[in-house]
Amino acid sequence: MSQREQWSSKIGFILAAAGSAIGLGAIWKFPYIAGQNGGGAFFLIFILFTLLLGLPLLLAEFSIGRTAESNAVDSYRKIAPGTRWHWVGILGMVTSFILLSFYSVIGGWIVVYLFKAITGQLNNLSSDQYAEVFGATISNPVTSVFVQFLFILMTIIVVAKGVQKGIELASKIMMPALFILFILLVVRAVTLDNAMAGITFLLQPDFSKVTSQTILEAMGQSFFTLSVGVSVMVTYSSYLPKTQSLPRSAISIVAMNIFIVLLAGLAIFPAVFAFDLEPGAGPVLLFNVLPTVFSQLPFGMLFFIAFLVLFLFAALTSAFSMLEIIVSVISKGEPEKRKKWSWIIGLSIFIFGIPSALSFGILGDITLFDKTIFDLADFAVSNVLLPIGSLLIALFVPMKMKKTALYEELKQGSGLKRGLFETWFFLIRFVAPLLIVIVMLDVLGLF
Ligand code: PHE
Repeated sequence: MSQREQWSSKIGFILAAAGSAIGLGAIWKFPYIAGQNGGGAFFLIFILFTLLLGLPLLLAEFSIGRTAESNAVDSYRKIAPGTRWHWVGILGMVTSFILLSFYSVIGGWIVVYLFKAITGQLNNLSSDQYAEVFGATISNPVTSVFVQFLFILMTIIVVAKGVQKGIELASKIMMPALFILFILLVVRAVTLDNAMAGITFLLQPDFSKVTSQTILEAMGQSFFTLSVGVSVMVTYSSYLPKTQSLPRSAISIVAMNIFIVLLAGLAIFPAVFAFDLEPGAGPVLLFNVLPTVFSQLPFGMLFFIAFLVLFLFAALTSAFSMLEIIVSVISKGEPEKRKKWSWIIGLSIFIFGIPSALSFGILGDITLFDKTIFDLADFAVSNVLLPIGSLLIALFVPMKMKKTALYEELKQGSGLKRGLFETWFFLIRFVAPLLIVIVMLDVLGLF
C-alpha cells in the first residue's frame, strides 16, 4: 500500500472535521426543526443528546479511524477481519449518498439567493415579498435543479482534485468570519421589537409540546450536526498523527456546534416573532427570515451577500466530506481513480436528488406518510440511517476493540485521565445503544 497522506498540521484536521460538522445542520436545519417542535424543550433535549450521545460517538469514530488508519470500510475490516462489520462503512456510504442528494438542494438555494442578492433583486422588499420571491424561485423546476447542479459541481471539482486541504486553510478565515457576522445578526435580531417572544420561544422549555417524535428529531439532529453515524469522522481521523488529542478535538467541535446552533436560534426566532412569521414554516424558514433581518441593518444587503458566501462555504465543506467518504473507499486513494469516481458518484447523486429539488414545486403533491420526497429523504437519513449507523458504531467499539488499546489510543496526545475514559466507555457501551434503541422503538409505538 502506498504511504498514506496525513494532515499537514493539527489545525488541518480540526478544520476539516469542524468543516464537516458545521454546515446546514446547525444553521438551516436546527431553526426549522426547533420551530416545528415547539422551541425550548427541543433545544434542551438536543443539547442533552449532543452531550450524552453525539460527543461520545464522535470520539468513538475518531478512535476507530486513528487506530485503523484506513477508509470508512477498510477501517472496520482491519479492526475486525473476517466479520461483517465493514457493512457499517457501506451503510455510511449509502447514507452519505442520500444525504448529499437533498443537502445539495439547500446548497442550491444559497447559490440562487446569492445571485439574487448580488444582482439587486432583493433590495427594499417587505418580509412577505421576500417569502414570495423565494417561494417562486424554489418552485421553479429549472432554477431549482440548475442551482442544485451548481452546488454538486463545486463539490465534485474540489473532491476530484483532492484539494480539500487548501480549502481547509481558507476555512481558517471563513469560519471565524461567519461567527462574527452571526453575532452581528443576533445583536440586530434581539433588539427588534417583540424580540423577547422569540428568545422565550427558544430558551424556555415547554414540555407539553414534547412527543416521541420530538425526541427522535432531537436525537437525529444531534447526530446530523456532528456528522456522526456515517463514518465520515472515521475517514477524517484516519489521516491524523498520533500526537493530536482526540478528546480535545471532539470537545472543541461539539462546543463550536452548540455555539452556532445557539447563534442561529437567536438570529432567527426573535425575528420570526418580531415580523409575525411562522416558526413552523419548515425548510424555507431561514431563507424567509434572514433577508428581512439583514434589511434592518445599515448596508444590509452587503452584509447579506457576505453572509451567503460564508454560509455557502460552510455547506460546501460539509458536502465535501459526504462525497469524500464514498470516493475514498471506491478509489482506494489512487489519484487517477479519485478523479473519475468523484465525477461518476457526484453526478449520480445529482440525478438521484432531482426529485428532492422538485418537491418544492411540481412534485410537491407527491407524498408518502404525509411527507414530500425531500422530507422523506431527510427523514430517512436524519431519523433512521444516522441513528442506526450510530448504534452500530456504539456496538462495534466495545465489542471489537480492546479496552486497554482504546485507552492507549485516546491517551496519545491528550494524557486523558482514566476516570474520564471510563465515563466515555460507559456512555458508549451502555447509554448510547440503550438510548438509541429506546427512542427508535418509542417512535414506532412499541413502548
Ligand atoms: N454535519 C453536517 C451539517 O450539519 C451534515 C453532515 C452529516 C455531514 C453527516 C457529513 C455527515 O451540515
